[in-house]
Amino acid sequence: MNQFHSKLNVQDFKTEGKVSAKCSSNIALIKYWGKKDVQIPMNPSLSFTLNNSYTSSELIFKPKNSEEFLVNVYLDNQLNELFVPRIYTFFDRIEEFIPFLRNYEFDIITHNTFPHSSGIASSASGMGALALCLVEMEEKFGTNFTKEEKLKKASFLARLGSGSACRSLYPGLSVWGESEFVEGSSDLYAIPYPYEIHEIFRNFQDTILLIDEGQKKVSSSVGHKLMENHPYAKQRFSSANENLSKIIHAIEKGDLKEFGAIVEHEALSLHAMMFTSFPSFILMKPGTIAVIEKVRDFRAQTSANLYFTLDAGANVHLLYPENEKKLCMDYIENELKPFCAKGKVINDFSF
Ligand code: PMV
Repeated sequence: MNQFHSKLNVQDFKTEGKVSAKCSSNIALIKYWGKKDVQIPMNPSLSFTLNNSYTSSELIFKPKNSEEFLVNVYLDNQLNELFVPRIYTFFDRIEEFIPFLRNYEFDIITHNTFPHSSGIASSASGMGALALCLVEMEEKFGTNFTKEEKLKKASFLARLGSGSACRSLYPGLSVWGESEFVEGSSDLYAIPYPYEIHEIFRNFQDTILLIDEGQKKVSSSVGHKLMENHPYAKQRFSSANENLSKIIHAIEKGDLKEFGAIVEHEALSLHAMMFTSFPSFILMKPGTIAVIEKVRDFRAQTSANLYFTLDAGANVHLLYPENEKKLCMDYIENELKPFCAKGKVINDFSF
């Protein structure tokens, strides 16, 4: 038994009811790319949890007698069978820690605040919200959690659904993956960022440019797997660790230039891993490169602190401090929006 096993008695699972939860998406500054065993990251990662981009889910549970898992997913009020196999895999992994999954039929009613085809991964916020719902349920059945224990268990469970989801349980900055540079860090769950944060990073802005709305050619799980025999994997994992130690200092000192240099290095390193995998693949689009070049030109011409990062896709996240909002937003509106699919951008921020 570990701290995440439930002490509940299976005999008690007879009542029906519902629980609900909300969980935000996140954008990694130090990227997780490569895993081992069951969702154990090969390097630590650090992210900003967003504010406006979130999933809210309701979990309705009715007792049943059959042995198999039974889940129906409704995304924006439409039955959606696409997510169900992934949820069964998730249930298989977490059954050891949530003992009532086979006792109920579940309806998951879920909504994202961001458009479905926007290319923003809904897996982090979706799995985060579902994990929180299950912990809510456990609490309802009698487990006494402190707020901290509840979030820790939800983060632990969310990781088993989608690695990066475990960071979404905490607002602001969050760290996942054991690192000598972060006290209390763990491979099993994320923790709230434990160090000093310079006020320039409060309400940090993230404008997401939707460069491409199409389905990604290679999924994240395939990308993670390709790190297993990757010629540069070892260097990448140690570089991520080094970048984490450097960014901690930049965040404390309020050193935006250093912060931006590390964040951009991380984004390009992530995509460099894709370029050099066997087989190799490219998720950037011409618009991604064009925006990166323009952002760098803009910085060369002005003193603006506008930096880019990328997740595993073509879209660009533009990061800038709240006190440069007007300058950066004007530039985005006039110069960068033309590179977006149907001119779409999402304005978000992290506390
Ligand atoms: O959590 P996954 O398996 O979807 O992988 C996420 C990987 C990146 O978004 C590229 C990086 C990260 O740390 O979020």
